[in-house]
Amino acid sequence: MKVLLTGAAGQLGQELIASRPPEVELIACARGELDLADAEACRAAVQQHRPDWVLNAGAYTAVDKAESEPELAAAVNAGAPAAFAEALAATGGRLMQVSTDFVFNGAQGSPYRPDQALDPLGVYGATKASGEEAALQLPGARVLRTSWVYGPVGKNFCRTMLRLHALKAAAGESLGVVADQVGCPTSTLTLAAACWRAIGVGADPATDTASSRILHWSDAGAASWYDFAVAIGELGVEAGLLERAARVKPLTTADYPTPAQRPSYSLLDCTASRVALGLEPLHWREALVEVLARGD
Ligand SMILES: NC(=O)c1ccc[n+]([C@@H]2O[C@H](COP(=O)([O-])OP(=O)(O)OC[C@H]3O[C@@H](n4cnc5c(N)ncnc54)[C@H](OP(=O)(O)O)[C@@H]3O)[C@@H](O)[C@H]2O)c1
Repeated sequence: MKVLLTGAAGQLGQELIASRPPEVELIACARGELDLADAEACRAAVQQHRPDWVLNAGAYTAVDKAESEPELAAAVNAGAPAAFAEALAATGGRLMQVSTDFVFNGAQGSPYRPDQALDPLGVYGATKASGEEAALQLPGARVLRTSWVYGPVGKNFCRTMLRLHALKAAAGESLGVVADQVGCPTSTLTLAAACWRAIGVGADPATDTASSRILHWSDAGAASWYDFAVAIGELGVEAGLLERAARVKPLTTADYPTPAQRPSYSLLDCTASRVALGLEPLHWREALVEVLARGD
């Protein structure tokens, strides 16, 4: 099975490369090989490689910066999947579009099912929602939504918190983290396994049902960013990555204003997808232990 992977230098992309199943012939494209803002280049890559799947893990992920760069965010997050879907329709390949909990507004206060209406709050979420819609124009395309992604490499909350815990603890200061946004941290290790499984399971478009085309994958449980930061400190010490953890002080969203509004409750209901993928979830703390064991 030939897979064209985008976002190869991203945190998920790197884990997808590391965990590639042996039967997969992988064409891994980082920004230098394929500019996702260039729709013609996306179509040409499909025509050149004729992959069985495009695994579109690349994205414009700077949630706050997207508010001031909406055209670029839209070109990458919506234009690229539209171009892939169009080209794959001609070559007979399929598309796996990775998406986000930020397509929901977070107002319902209970986990979102895959079939619920989208209502993104910011530019990033809106462009990802358009990307989903474009991808799903292709019969046999899949959308896999996930949340709060972090892993052993790249730029992510966990690695930032490890650095800040060390700095603040050394200075005897506390670390302020937002406590009124709830979601679920998801490790790139479990997410990559879910992506590969999503490609392998039911690979015949004829067997796809509407509900199996949108999948939700997060680690199990729920947390606020504050809970996650406390756990990173505690488990970072246990893993030997920190000498000691800083005290974490809960903040409200109002205390920490950002250019983009974020959903206050964006848990994904992964029940049906876990069954469809045949994967047992890890609680997010167990997944965090696995990530921290990889070191820094
Ligand atoms: N991070 C999260 O918390 C989160 C949450 C939910 C869903 N997701 C989704 O999960 C997927 C993987 O995200 P991630 O966490 O791995 O993000 P990431 O580490 O920021 O990786 C995204 C990759 O996309 C690449 N990219 C951006 N613009 C590009 C362009 N114009 N042309 C080519 N490549 C471009 C980046 O390239 P450079 O390395 O060159 O910048 C980067 O390697 C994305 O679809 C994202 O929307 C992420």
